[in-house]
Amino acid sequence: MSATIILGAQWGDEGKGRVVDVFAKDADAVVRYQGGNNAGHTIMVGEQKLALSLIPSGIMHPGCIPVIASGTVIDPKVLIGELDMAIEKNLEPDRVRVSSNAHVIMPYHRKLDAVKERYLGKNRIGTTKKGIGPAYTDKYDRSGIRIQDLFDPGIFKDKVVTALEEKNRVLPRVYNTLPMDADEIVDEYLGYARRLEPHVADTSLLIWEILEREGSVVFEGAQGTLLDVDHGTYPFVTSSNPTAGGALVGSGIGPKAVDEIVGVAKAYISRVGTGPFPTELHDEIGDMMIELGGEYGTVTGRRRRCGWLDLVALRYAVRVNTFTRLFITKLDILSAFDTIKVAVGYRANGEEHHHFPRQQGVLYHCEPIYREFPGWKTDISEVRHYADLPRDAHRYLEFIAEETGVPIGWVSVGPERDQMLDGELVDAV
Ligand code: GDP
Ligand code: IMO
Ligand code: MG
Repeated sequence: MSATIILGAQWGDEGKGRVVDVFAKDADAVVRYQGGNNAGHTIMVGEQKLALSLIPSGIMHPGCIPVIASGTVIDPKVLIGELDMAIEKNLEPDRVRVSSNAHVIMPYHRKLDAVKERYLGKNRIGTTKKGIGPAYTDKYDRSGIRIQDLFDPGIFKDKVVTALEEKNRVLPRVYNTLPMDADEIVDEYLGYARRLEPHVADTSLLIWEILEREGSVVFEGAQGTLLDVDHGTYPFVTSSNPTAGGALVGSGIGPKAVDEIVGVAKAYISRVGTGPFPTELHDEIGDMMIELGGEYGTVTGRRRRCGWLDLVALRYAVRVNTFTRLFITKLDILSAFDTIKVAVGYRANGEEHHHFPRQQGVLYHCEPIYREFPGWKTDISEVRHYADLPRDAHRYLEFIAEETGVPIGWVSVGPERDQMLDGELVDAV
């Protein structure tokens, strides 16, 4: 049996979608274990560009079951839209499976997300406004609505009415916005239920059965380590656990089932939304990264903030996830630069930090300590063998493996499926 967790080592948008698409070729199932349609995972195959927010990247491979597991929060309308898109593209989405335990994003979650952000003003998180935070809040409050509730209209209506008793006090009084109508919501959502019913399953059991018969399962993280609600740059995080432990809880498997944990890291780093970002560039180099890397949000279209690779953060991600190998993406984007910098430590308040600072506030005052590498200034997008990369690119990758202590198994040099190099590329020292 083989279970591989693939997750972002940074603040999201590392290229997880394209990486999972590569692994999905040999997988019996690909499982999304947390988050919702705040995620935007892009896959490019020839002329086809697919942007997925809920359905896992395994949809591109006919032999693979895409599973949306219990740790996710699902906006049914968005999921149905994605299923329709998959039908249009002949991707046969009948095989998509959705956990009966996953939580449902309700219209009041979306509304609360938007008005709360507005009220926070300059302290806002910069959420995707998809209702993610409020849906997880209700889950942990134990007042959430699960996918299975949609199939018991009596219970479903009761739960909506109960939820609205509270929300309809909060919405006008606290946020000065209109209350919502329970019957309208119930009608709308029961319509979605009919459409989703054939997809609903006990996904933990489904995964277990595949692993039992020596099958192969890939777990696809959304967001990234530094957006993890427990281990990220709180409160500027998402409301779930993208880290490796989240894959277990969010899909209902135990730690002994896992064989490999792949950390996906861009050759530089980006962040959407607010929050500290020590290596952020506010100059023309940052602008070049954004333009050359196409760093605009898949979900919200927002310009991503960009900066040099941060090895303090990457070493932290290695620690909290126990990565077995790294997949470095977008190395081709660095071909444009004369000099490439990598943060190896931070300096703040007269002190040097080689670990992520314990006190979040310190992160705002951190000056990166950079190590500089000469750029290779050659187009590498057609390279397919590690040996054919320029020597300066080797040095850069070797340094990453050395500093993190994790071997690099794969490097991508373009967004297309075949634009990558694989096969135990760089050993950790
Ligand atoms: P995800 O959220 O981690 O799946 O990443 P996104 O899809 O939001 O953002 C990654 C973007 O980079 C997408 O537009 C990908 O097509 C693109 N991409 C992925 N790998 C590479 C690569 O190696 N080189 C280049 N130039 N683009 C890449
Ligand atoms: P993928 O899976 C990058 C960010 C938002 C915001 C914070 C909280 O494509 O890597 P939320 O809507 O989750 O409550 O927003 O998290 N964020 C992401 N940033 N990539 C993502 O997903 C993200 N999903 C959420 O910008 O800062
Ligand atoms: Mg993304």
